[in-house]
Amino acid sequence: MTIWSQVIGTGGYLPETVRTNDDISTMVDTSDSWIQERTGIKSRRIAGPDETASSMAEIAARQALEMANLPADAIDMIIVATGTPERVYPSTACLLQERLGIKRGVGFDIQAACSGTVYALSIADQYIKSGFAKTVLVVGSEICSRIVDWSDRGTCILFGDGAGAVLLSAGDRPGILSTHIHSDGGYEDLLYCPNPQVAATAKQDEAPYISMRGNEVFKVAVNTLGRIVDETLEASGLAQSDIDWLVPHQANTRIIAATAKKLGMSMDQVILTLENQGNTSSASVLLAFNEGVRDGRIQRGQTVLMEAFGAGFTWGSALIRY
Ligand code: COA
Repeated sequence: MTIWSQVIGTGGYLPETVRTNDDISTMVDTSDSWIQERTGIKSRRIAGPDETASSMAEIAARQALEMANLPADAIDMIIVATGTPERVYPSTACLLQERLGIKRGVGFDIQAACSGTVYALSIADQYIKSGFAKTVLVVGSEICSRIVDWSDRGTCILFGDGAGAVLLSAGDRPGILSTHIHSDGGYEDLLYCPNPQVAATAKQDEAPYISMRGNEVFKVAVNTLGRIVDETLEASGLAQSDIDWLVPHQANTRIIAATAKKLGMSMDQVILTLENQGNTSSASVLLAFNEGVRDGRIQRGQTVLMEAFGAGFTWGSALIRY
């Protein structure tokens, strides 16, 4: 019997504080109309002073457990994707495991920038299919606002905070149909965030903030996401018209529109959240998926294509029968 990884619960959390484009216009030389036109973003959420990747992850995870009607200790494995862990160690997954009161199973983080949750879904799927784990919690949780230079108008307009979660369980009907993950480490200079405390001595004076050559990232992202769409369709044997929903990483409406066009999909078949969330890095795909599931757009039996692109560069996709 084929073992599939099925989605049994989803969750999402956004901090209370809203930072609008007008708010940012008081901090740097920009405008609401420029930001909306170039990115599609109107506002983003900013974590409160006591919030962390693990505290936000806990809220999203508990929602997913509630939807699945499962207790926390049914979880065999926790995978947290984050580029903004509150500790170098323990991992955010271990901190989350403790918050959820779980004393069994295993938890670990993965770091693949904005592609983090797609990587985590791929890893979870391998462990479920192999029979090693029955129930796996995947969470993307990010406090991007703390690694953004709020005086750099090229980056501070883009990012936001939040957490998304999905609970997967082994089952006998199709769930995750395929995952595809890639990286090319040759693009460090286009998008990176220094960690000066542990960097080589010569780089310890770098500011610990996101540094990006946005225009160049944009071009590679559009081309790469086009290729991952082709790869996913070819591997699954599905046609463009078999995909019901595109759940993309939310970086820029123009990048998302190019991917939808490549798939022959209208923007009505795309779950878009960036307008009021910005780019929440590894949290964005699962936040969008949770929104689509909870508002009833994504229905049981439908086929969902998730895709993401991030620093590294990293990129990937997950094709899911919900
Ligand atoms: N407000 C006003 N003007 C701005 C601005 C801002 N917030 N940011 C940049 N500009 C200016 C630039 O200084 C430049 O001015 P110049 O022509 O006088 O030199 C001009 O706008 C064009 O800059 P450019 O960087 O070419 O703009 P763009 O159309 O590429 O848009 C991004 C910038 C960042 C919105 C866009 O490149 C982008 O979204 N890139 C992808 C980012 C991404 O996805 N990153 C994460 C991957 S996970």
